[in-house]
Amino acid sequence: MPRAFSELTFTPAVRVHQERMGSARTYSKFIEDGPQQGHQIGPAEKAFIQARDGFYQSTVSETGWPYVQYRGGQVGFLKVLDPQTIGYADFSGNKQYISRGNLDGNDRIALILMDYANQRRLKILGRVTFTEGETAAASLYPEGAEAPAERAALIRVEALDWNCPRHITPRFTEAELRPHLNALGQQLAQLQAENEKLKQLLTQRS
Ligand SMILES: Cc1cc2nc3c(=O)[nH]c(=O)nc-3n(C[C@H](O)[C@H](O)[C@H](O)COP(=O)(O)O)c2cc1C
Repeated sequence: MPRAFSELTFTPAVRVHQERMGSARTYSKFIEDGPQQGHQIGPAEKAFIQARDGFYQSTVSETGWPYVQYRGGQVGFLKVLDPQTIGYADFSGNKQYISRGNLDGNDRIALILMDYANQRRLKILGRVTFTEGETAAASLYPEGAEAPAERAALIRVEALDWNCPRHITPRFTEAELRPHLNALGQQLAQLQAENEKLKQLLTQRS
């Protein structure tokens, strides 16, 4: 775990439990001499972020409730703008504005990005700023976006952490399966044609 992530997540209350359960010494290494800073988006993180078609995002309400919402779009709708900033165009949805309202009182956000096919996930902690209006969002539009977006959401990344891949069930989107299904379809067509020819040969011989 990179130092930036443990600094934000290992709060005094968390440390009390690590002490009680005997993991505090192991984890103090991450805080004191963690190998990487972990607050910058490197090439691996950039490629991973830009290949996603959705992510889970958590905010905190003014009454203290955590709130998780799934954000989806076409691959690449979450853009890496510089090594510490990601952003997306916020399109009109169900107009509940729960995440939007939560972020007025507390700009902190936690994201979890999943790659089920390759059993990888990335956690991101950051702070959000919004710029209201369609014009502000225009530079963040994914290719081929139809409806006008309501605002631009910019996330200043404070920490990243590659989460352990345990218990990620491999799942595949239609786009991920398509090349394999096409290859199988071609094989099946060849076998059907061959089978037809063999059947004809058998009929001719009998
Ligand atoms: C017409 C319509 C379009 C929507 N489009 C999206 C979308 O493109 N991406 C998305 O993540 N959710 C979409 N949603 C679902 C929610 O509106 C969306 O998750 C929204 O962010 C809710 O945010 P909130 O729960 O923070 O209020 C759509 C919903 C509706 C009714």
